[in-house]
Amino acid sequence: QVIYLDGKYVSKEDAKVSVFDHGFLYGDGIFEGIRIYSGNIFKCKEHLDRLYDSAKSIMLEIPLSYAEMQAALIETVRRNELQDGYIRLVVSRGPGDLGLDPRRSPVASVLIIVEQLAIYSEEAYVNGLKTVSVSTRRNVPDALNPKIKSLNYLNNILVKIQANLAGVGEAIMLNSQGYVAEGSSDNIFIIKRGVVYTPPCYCGALEGITRAAIIEICERVGYKVKEEPFTLHDVYVADEVFFTGTAAEVIAVREVDARTIGEGKAGPITTHLLKEFRSIVS
Ligand code: PDD
Repeated sequence: QVIYLDGKYVSKEDAKVSVFDHGFLYGDGIFEGIRIYSGNIFKCKEHLDRLYDSAKSIMLEIPLSYAEMQAALIETVRRNELQDGYIRLVVSRGPGDLGLDPRRSPVASVLIIVEQLAIYSEEAYVNGLKTVSVSTRRNVPDALNPKIKSLNYLNNILVKIQANLAGVGEAIMLNSQGYVAEGSSDNIFIIKRGVVYTPPCYCGALEGITRAAIIEICERVGYKVKEEPFTLHDVYVADEVFFTGTAAEVIAVREVDARTIGEGKAGPITTHLLKEFRSIVS
Protein backbone atom coordinates (compact mmCIF):
# COMPACT_ATOMS: atom_id res chain seq x y z
CA GLN A 1 0.00 0.00 0.00
CA VAL A 2 1.44 3.33 -1.10
CA ILE A 3 0.30 6.48 0.67
CA TYR A 4 0.68 10.04 -0.52
CA LEU A 5 1.86 12.24 2.34
CA ASP A 6 2.83 15.87 1.80
CA GLY A 7 4.34 15.41 -1.63
CA LYS A 8 5.95 12.01 -1.00
CA TYR A 9 4.81 8.47 -1.74
CA VAL A 10 5.51 6.39 1.35
CA SER A 11 4.70 2.96 2.79
CA LYS A 12 1.95 2.50 5.38
CA GLU A 13 4.63 2.16 8.09
CA ASP A 14 6.22 5.46 7.09
CA ALA A 15 2.95 7.37 6.75
CA LYS A 16 3.12 9.29 10.03
CA VAL A 17 1.85 12.72 10.99
CA SER A 18 2.89 14.94 13.87
CA VAL A 19 1.14 14.76 17.25
CA PHE A 20 0.98 18.57 16.91
CA ASP A 21 -1.13 18.29 13.77
CA HIS A 22 -4.33 20.23 14.37
CA GLY A 23 -6.31 17.60 12.50
CA PHE A 24 -5.39 15.33 15.42
CA LEU A 25 -5.52 17.91 18.24
CA TYR A 26 -8.71 19.67 17.18
CA GLY A 27 -10.29 17.84 14.24
CA ASP A 28 -9.27 20.92 12.26
CA GLY A 29 -9.35 19.79 8.66
CA ILE A 30 -11.47 18.42 5.86
CA PHE A 31 -11.73 15.19 3.90
CA GLU A 32 -13.27 13.34 0.99
CA GLY A 33 -14.16 9.68 0.45
CA ILE A 34 -13.96 8.81 -3.25
CA ARG A 35 -14.57 5.59 -5.22
CA ILE A 36 -12.41 4.03 -7.90
CA TYR A 37 -14.47 2.00 -10.37
CA SER A 38 -12.65 0.06 -13.13
CA GLY A 39 -9.54 2.15 -12.57
CA ASN A 40 -11.39 5.47 -12.89
CA ILE A 41 -11.87 8.01 -10.12
CA PHE A 42 -15.65 8.45 -9.88
CA LYS A 43 -16.91 12.07 -9.78
CA CYS A 44 -13.38 13.37 -9.23
CA LYS A 45 -14.30 16.95 -10.13
CA GLU A 46 -17.31 16.97 -7.78
CA HIS A 47 -15.19 15.69 -4.88
CA LEU A 48 -12.41 18.20 -5.53
CA ASP A 49 -14.93 21.04 -5.88
CA ARG A 50 -16.43 20.12 -2.50
CA LEU A 51 -12.95 19.81 -0.95
CA TYR A 52 -11.80 23.22 -2.19
CA ASP A 53 -15.13 24.82 -1.16
CA SER A 54 -14.82 23.30 2.33
CA ALA A 55 -11.23 24.61 2.52
CA LYS A 56 -12.24 28.11 1.47
CA SER A 57 -15.06 28.21 3.98
CA ILE A 58 -12.78 27.31 6.92
CA MET A 59 -9.88 29.46 5.59
CA LEU A 60 -7.62 26.49 5.05
CA GLU A 61 -5.09 26.96 2.31
CA ILE A 62 -4.53 23.72 0.41
CA PRO A 63 -0.85 23.67 -0.58
CA LEU A 64 -1.64 21.99 -3.93
CA SER A 65 -3.38 23.54 -6.91
CA TYR A 66 -6.51 21.80 -8.14
CA ALA A 67 -4.51 20.26 -11.03
CA GLU A 68 -1.73 19.12 -8.70
CA MET A 69 -4.27 17.51 -6.37
CA GLN A 70 -5.91 15.71 -9.26
CA ALA A 71 -2.48 14.49 -10.44
CA ALA A 72 -1.62 13.30 -6.90
CA LEU A 73 -4.90 11.34 -6.72
CA ILE A 74 -4.30 9.69 -10.10
CA GLU A 75 -0.69 8.85 -9.23
CA THR A 76 -1.63 7.36 -5.83
CA VAL A 77 -4.30 5.19 -7.47
CA ARG A 78 -1.79 4.11 -10.15
CA ARG A 79 0.86 3.16 -7.60
CA ASN A 80 -1.64 1.06 -5.63
CA GLU A 81 -2.68 -0.87 -8.75
CA LEU A 82 -6.32 -1.10 -7.69
CA GLN A 83 -9.12 -1.31 -10.25
CA ASP A 84 -11.86 -0.94 -7.68
CA GLY A 85 -11.39 0.69 -4.32
CA TYR A 86 -11.77 3.66 -2.10
CA ILE A 87 -9.72 6.83 -1.73
CA ARG A 88 -9.55 8.82 1.48
CA LEU A 89 -8.23 12.32 0.87
CA VAL A 90 -7.50 14.35 4.00
CA VAL A 91 -6.30 17.93 4.34
CA SER A 92 -5.58 18.93 7.91
CA ARG A 93 -4.57 22.35 9.22
CA GLY A 94 -1.11 20.87 9.75
CA PRO A 95 1.30 20.94 12.68
CA GLY A 96 1.10 23.91 15.03
CA ASP A 97 1.38 24.54 18.74
CA LEU A 98 -1.06 23.54 21.47
CA GLY A 99 -3.17 26.64 21.05
CA LEU A 100 -5.98 26.51 18.55
CA ASP A 101 -4.86 29.53 16.50
CA PRO A 102 -4.65 28.30 12.90
CA ARG A 103 -2.10 31.03 12.09
CA ARG A 104 0.39 28.88 14.01
CA SER A 105 -0.18 26.02 11.56
CA PRO A 106 1.03 27.74 8.40
CA VAL A 107 1.30 24.62 6.21
CA ALA A 108 -1.60 22.21 5.78
CA SER A 109 -0.92 18.46 5.59
CA VAL A 110 -2.30 16.48 2.67
CA LEU A 111 -2.65 12.74 2.64
CA ILE A 112 -4.19 10.28 0.23
CA ILE A 113 -4.90 6.67 1.19
CA VAL A 114 -6.14 4.12 -1.33
CA GLU A 115 -7.72 0.94 -0.04
CA GLN A 116 -9.87 -1.98 -0.89
CA LEU A 117 -13.40 -1.39 0.31
CA ALA A 118 -15.38 -3.58 2.70
CA ILE A 119 -18.93 -2.87 1.68
CA TYR A 120 -22.36 -4.31 2.47
CA SER A 121 -23.05 -7.81 1.20
CA GLU A 122 -25.05 -8.24 -2.00
CA GLU A 123 -27.77 -9.77 0.20
CA ALA A 124 -28.10 -6.43 2.04
CA TYR A 125 -28.72 -4.59 -1.26
CA VAL A 126 -31.56 -7.01 -2.06
CA ASN A 127 -33.11 -7.45 1.40
CA GLY A 128 -32.36 -4.02 2.83
CA LEU A 129 -30.93 -2.90 6.16
CA LYS A 130 -32.61 -2.60 9.49
CA THR A 131 -32.16 0.86 10.93
CA VAL A 132 -33.14 2.97 13.93
CA SER A 133 -33.44 6.66 14.68
CA VAL A 134 -31.08 7.96 17.36
CA SER A 135 -31.12 10.70 19.96
CA THR A 136 -27.96 12.43 18.69
CA ARG A 137 -29.03 15.58 16.82
CA ARG A 138 -27.54 17.47 13.93
CA ASN A 139 -27.54 21.09 15.12
CA VAL A 140 -28.43 23.30 12.20
CA PRO A 141 -28.12 26.10 11.36
CA ASP A 142 -26.26 27.27 14.48
CA ALA A 143 -23.38 24.73 14.34
CA LEU A 144 -20.95 23.91 11.57
CA ASN A 145 -22.53 24.14 8.13
CA PRO A 146 -23.19 20.58 6.90
CA LYS A 147 -21.84 21.55 3.47
CA ILE A 148 -18.34 21.58 5.02
CA LYS A 149 -17.02 18.03 5.02
CA SER A 150 -14.90 18.59 8.10
CA LEU A 151 -12.87 16.18 10.20
CA ASN A 152 -15.17 16.96 13.15
CA TYR A 153 -17.10 13.69 13.01
CA LEU A 154 -17.80 13.21 16.68
CA ASN A 155 -21.52 13.80 16.19
CA ASN A 156 -21.56 11.17 13.44
CA ILE A 157 -19.51 8.80 15.61
CA LEU A 158 -22.10 9.14 18.39
CA VAL A 159 -24.74 8.15 15.83
CA LYS A 160 -22.61 5.17 14.81
CA ILE A 161 -22.23 4.11 18.46
CA GLN A 162 -26.01 4.22 18.87
CA ALA A 163 -26.37 2.19 15.66
CA ASN A 164 -23.88 -0.37 17.02
CA LEU A 165 -25.77 -0.61 20.32
CA ALA A 166 -28.96 -1.26 18.40
CA GLY A 167 -27.20 -3.88 16.28
CA VAL A 168 -27.83 -2.09 12.96
CA GLY A 169 -25.47 -0.91 10.23
CA GLU A 170 -26.68 2.66 9.83
CA ALA A 171 -28.96 4.96 11.83
CA ILE A 172 -31.10 8.02 11.18
CA MET A 173 -30.14 11.37 12.69
CA LEU A 174 -32.66 14.15 13.12
CA ASN A 175 -31.81 17.83 13.35
CA SER A 176 -32.55 19.98 16.39
CA GLN A 177 -35.97 20.88 14.97
CA GLY A 178 -36.92 17.20 14.70
CA TYR A 179 -36.65 16.90 10.91
CA VAL A 180 -34.74 14.01 9.39
CA ALA A 181 -31.19 15.03 8.45
CA GLU A 182 -29.15 12.00 7.32
CA GLY A 183 -27.38 8.86 8.51
CA SER A 184 -24.01 8.68 10.29
CA SER A 185 -22.24 8.71 6.94
CA ASP A 186 -24.96 8.49 4.31
CA ASN A 187 -27.74 10.63 2.91
CA ILE A 188 -31.32 9.41 3.21
CA PHE A 189 -34.16 9.20 0.70
CA ILE A 190 -37.78 8.10 1.07
CA ILE A 191 -40.33 7.25 -1.60
CA LYS A 192 -44.07 7.79 -1.27
CA ARG A 193 -46.56 7.18 -4.07
CA GLY A 194 -43.82 7.20 -6.70
CA VAL A 195 -42.28 10.51 -5.56
CA VAL A 196 -38.69 10.51 -4.26
CA TYR A 197 -37.94 12.79 -1.28
CA THR A 198 -34.64 13.75 0.32
CA PRO A 199 -33.96 16.38 2.99
CA PRO A 200 -32.54 19.67 1.75
CA CYS A 201 -29.01 20.40 2.96
CA TYR A 202 -30.28 23.10 5.33
CA CYS A 203 -31.93 20.30 7.32
CA GLY A 204 -28.43 19.05 8.18
CA ALA A 205 -27.56 16.80 5.25
CA LEU A 206 -24.18 16.77 3.61
CA GLU A 207 -24.43 17.78 -0.06
CA GLY A 208 -23.64 14.19 -0.97
CA ILE A 209 -22.20 13.39 -4.37
CA THR A 210 -24.04 10.07 -4.55
CA ARG A 211 -27.18 11.98 -3.49
CA ALA A 212 -26.67 14.35 -6.45
CA ALA A 213 -26.03 11.40 -8.80
CA ILE A 214 -29.29 9.75 -7.66
CA ILE A 215 -31.28 12.98 -8.11
CA GLU A 216 -29.84 13.21 -11.63
CA ILE A 217 -30.75 9.58 -12.38
CA CYS A 218 -34.32 10.12 -11.04
CA GLU A 219 -34.77 13.10 -13.33
CA ARG A 220 -33.39 11.19 -16.32
CA VAL A 221 -35.51 8.06 -15.82
CA GLY A 222 -38.65 10.01 -14.92
CA TYR A 223 -39.13 9.90 -11.14
CA LYS A 224 -40.21 13.14 -9.54
CA VAL A 225 -37.74 14.29 -6.83
CA LYS A 226 -38.56 16.73 -4.05
CA GLU A 227 -35.96 18.17 -1.70
CA GLU A 228 -38.12 19.00 1.28
CA PRO A 229 -38.04 18.55 5.05
CA PHE A 230 -39.75 15.45 6.43
CA THR A 231 -40.19 13.76 9.80
CA LEU A 232 -39.74 10.27 11.20
CA HIS A 233 -43.45 9.68 10.70
CA ASP A 234 -42.95 10.16 6.95
CA VAL A 235 -40.10 7.63 7.06
CA TYR A 236 -42.26 5.08 8.92
CA VAL A 237 -45.07 5.31 6.39
CA ALA A 238 -42.86 5.54 3.29
CA ASP A 239 -43.21 2.91 0.56
CA GLU A 240 -39.42 2.71 0.26
CA VAL A 241 -36.42 4.10 2.15
CA PHE A 242 -32.76 4.03 1.14
CA PHE A 243 -29.39 5.52 2.02
CA THR A 244 -26.80 6.83 -0.42
CA GLY A 245 -23.08 7.38 0.02
CA THR A 246 -19.76 6.86 -1.70
CA ALA A 247 -19.13 3.68 0.27
CA ALA A 248 -22.76 2.46 0.55
CA GLU A 249 -23.84 3.42 -3.02
CA VAL A 250 -27.65 2.91 -2.87
CA ILE A 251 -28.71 0.65 -0.01
CA ALA A 252 -32.32 -0.14 0.77
CA VAL A 253 -33.83 -0.02 4.26
CA ARG A 254 -36.33 -2.71 5.24
CA GLU A 255 -37.11 -1.64 8.79
CA VAL A 256 -37.02 1.64 10.75
CA ASP A 257 -37.56 1.60 14.54
CA ALA A 258 -39.30 -1.81 14.22
CA ARG A 259 -41.70 -0.57 11.50
CA THR A 260 -41.45 -2.65 8.33
CA ILE A 261 -40.95 -0.50 5.24
CA GLY A 262 -42.97 -1.57 2.20
CA GLU A 263 -42.60 -5.29 1.59
CA GLY A 264 -39.63 -5.54 3.99
CA LYS A 265 -37.02 -5.70 1.22
CA ALA A 266 -35.57 -3.39 -1.44
CA GLY A 267 -38.54 -1.85 -3.26
CA PRO A 268 -38.92 -1.55 -7.03
CA ILE A 269 -37.81 2.09 -7.36
CA THR A 270 -34.79 1.62 -5.07
CA THR A 271 -33.82 -1.49 -7.06
CA HIS A 272 -34.20 0.42 -10.33
CA LEU A 273 -32.09 3.34 -9.03
CA LEU A 274 -29.34 0.97 -7.81
CA LYS A 275 -29.29 -0.70 -11.23
CA GLU A 276 -29.02 2.66 -13.01
CA PHE A 277 -26.33 3.81 -10.57
CA ARG A 278 -24.28 0.64 -11.14
CA SER A 279 -24.62 1.05 -14.87
CA ILE A 280 -23.04 4.52 -14.77
CA VAL A 281 -20.16 3.47 -12.53
CA SER A 282 -19.13 0.24 -14.25
N1 PDD B 1 -19.58 9.33 3.84
N2 PDD B 1 -23.44 12.26 4.92
C1 PDD B 1 -22.32 12.13 5.65
C2 PDD B 1 -22.30 12.60 7.06
C3 PDD B 1 -21.17 11.53 5.08
O1 PDD B 1 -20.05 11.39 5.79
C4 PDD B 1 -21.23 11.07 3.74
C5 PDD B 1 -20.02 10.45 3.10
C6 PDD B 1 -22.43 11.22 3.02
C7 PDD B 1 -22.57 10.78 1.60
O2 PDD B 1 -21.89 11.66 0.75
P1 PDD B 1 -21.20 11.19 -0.61
O3 PDD B 1 -22.27 10.61 -1.44
O4 PDD B 1 -20.61 12.42 -1.18
O5 PDD B 1 -20.17 10.14 -0.22
C8 PDD B 1 -23.51 11.83 3.64
C9 PDD B 1 -18.36 8.59 3.66
C10 PDD B 1 -17.16 9.42 3.73
C11 PDD B 1 -18.43 7.71 2.43
O6 PDD B 1 -19.50 7.27 2.07
O7 PDD B 1 -17.40 7.45 1.84
